[in-house]
Amino acid sequence: MPSSPLPIVVLISGSGSNLQAIIDAIGTLQLNAEIKAVISNKAGVKGLERAEKAGIPTRVLQHTDFDSREAFDQALAGLIDDFNPRLVILAGFMRILSEDFVTHYMGRMLNIHPSLLPDFTGLNTHQRVLDAGRSQHGVSVHFVTNELDSGPLVIQAVIDINPEDTADSLAERIHQQEHIIYPTSIQWFAEGRLCWKDNQAWLDDKPIRVPPRWQNGQLIYKPDVT
Ligand code: GAR
Repeated sequence: MPSSPLPIVVLISGSGSNLQAIIDAIGTLQLNAEIKAVISNKAGVKGLERAEKAGIPTRVLQHTDFDSREAFDQALAGLIDDFNPRLVILAGFMRILSEDFVTHYMGRMLNIHPSLLPDFTGLNTHQRVLDAGRSQHGVSVHFVTNELDSGPLVIQAVIDINPEDTADSLAERIHQQEHIIYPTSIQWFAEGRLCWKDNQAWLDDKPIRVPPRWQNGQLIYKPDVT
């Protein structure tokens, strides 16, 4: 019997193209999940429009209405938990999260970050990768822990940087990769293939030591490499 869809809540701050990829993957049955709500810390962003168009409940919780990060995060957790998700998805949610918030969702919150972590945490990753003269760039999905843009990796996508690439072209090419690997990761979680145990990410009953890599249209995964 097919299992019931994984209940998720998606947090956004902006355009929501990753949210759209998740909506589309659910629509084409590649992802067995149900988006219970989309929550934004900014009003009027395109991601909210995308959610409304797909008939998904939306909420706006503006951090500017709160006196402290902790107060905002506490209200946010209350809002999320009203929807009872099994997994929280950070999809361009541009906030540093407080320790209590992260601890509350440990092992059930994923983030996507546009770099080959652990390199280039933080902002403006595309320009910084170019400035550093790198030949490759990428994007990482990881479980969220208390270090910014860090935590056990789930999957990475890798692209070669071309001489004509700019920060904008890299952003576009990285987005294309994000839209493949984020729905894939969530589907692994929905199937029970991906989980959190002993403070580690596990895939197919093995701790992820070297994360699977999506490169040139292929998934490369060698779980036994340490
Ligand atoms: C994505 O590129 C995501 O990797 C990045 O924000 C963008 C959101 O795009 N996230 C971070 O930088 C987190 N540190 P989207 O709103 O179109 O999904």
